[in-house]
Amino acid sequence: MKAGIIGASGYTGYELIKILSKHKKVSLEVLNSRIYAGKKVKTLYKEFKNNNLKFKNASLDEINKLDVVFLATPNGKALELVPKLKCKVIDLSADYRFKSSKVYEKVYGFKHNNIKSAYGLPELFKEKIKKSKLVGNPGCYVTASLLVSLPIDKFAKNIIFDCKSGYSGAGSIPSYVNNPKNYNDNIIPYKISNHRHKYEMQQYLKAKVSFTPHVIPTFRGLMSTAHILLKKKISAKKVKDMYKKYYKNSPFVKIVNKIPEIKDVQNTNYCMIGGFEIDENNQLVIVSVIDNLLKGASGQAVQNMNIMFGFEETEGLM
Ligand SMILES: NC(=O)c1ccc[n+]([C@@H]2O[C@H](COP(=O)([O-])OP(=O)(O)OC[C@H]3O[C@@H](n4cnc5c(N)ncnc54)[C@H](OP(=O)(O)O)[C@@H]3O)[C@@H](O)[C@H]2O)c1
Repeated sequence: MKAGIIGASGYTGYELIKILSKHKKVSLEVLNSRIYAGKKVKTLYKEFKNNNLKFKNASLDEINKLDVVFLATPNGKALELVPKLKCKVIDLSADYRFKSSKVYEKVYGFKHNNIKSAYGLPELFKEKIKKSKLVGNPGCYVTASLLVSLPIDKFAKNIIFDCKSGYSGAGSIPSYVNNPKNYNDNIIPYKISNHRHKYEMQQYLKAKVSFTPHVIPTFRGLMSTAHILLKKKISAKKVKDMYKKYYKNSPFVKIVNKIPEIKDVQNTNYCMIGGFEIDENNQLVIVSVIDNLLKGASGQAVQNMNIMFGFEETEGLM
């Protein structure tokens, strides 16, 4: 099957190249980069030294000969490209993550084209993803936060997600939060009450959501600590059993008997969920961790591709 990546020179693009160049069912045909067009991938990434893959600035005709294209580009680019594409599309940006184009327009400020997509969280929408030509891959904070809260949502009054992410979450284009001068020996809270991912999370949760992200001085990995105010008394054991049941057919979600750490999942496509403590105020605390570049982006995108094409869900990701 022929695959391509637009935005192949960025952080998530690099992860996609690593996964797809080893994927048994995929031939990587287009690695689009405007800046590195004509250069071999090995000039940018030493680990590809025995590989002759090249970046190019591909035409629409070349992209349309593919079976699937991954859009690893900034918000707004997919809105422009998708109406012109004939192949299946997995968009890593926020452009096709919203049920309502009005909400997307309010949160992101781009006019939406109303093309319908499946929300690419396989643990929730596998059947929809299977039938879809266009998948909007979820945000990284959203993936960790939805996975840690979906099974308990109906018992929750409100949920506070206290999240930390490695600085690769901000992409490779220089910004305040991915500048080593700012994140070294530091923790940077930002958009403490109205980050855009909050509106994406709220689409799939009945409980009211509050969300604060922080950038920490590590390259990759993301933690969502959920503080869940419960509507009624329930034991921590019962909650944990509910989670095990909810995720029994989800190969990348692990319910663990410890408080998970970022190191447990770096460089993997797993989401690890643990903690499960309830305090005297009937507040449940659960921690989930993912690698923002894999389960939070490129790994999940390949998981979605596997589902869309009827491959083994875990192919290329173990
Ligand atoms: N980083 C994460 O943890 C993460 C997690 C989840 C989702 N995402 C989303 O995934 C997307 C990519 O993120 P990233 O972190 O990989 O970003 P990045 O490192 O900044 O890379 C983005 C790439 O897009 C290409 N690009 C930029 N503008 C373009 C345009 N107008 N047309 C075509 N290509 C363009 C650039 O390549 P050239 O300049 O070489 O063409 C660049 O390498 C973003 O929408 C981001 O929000 C990222």
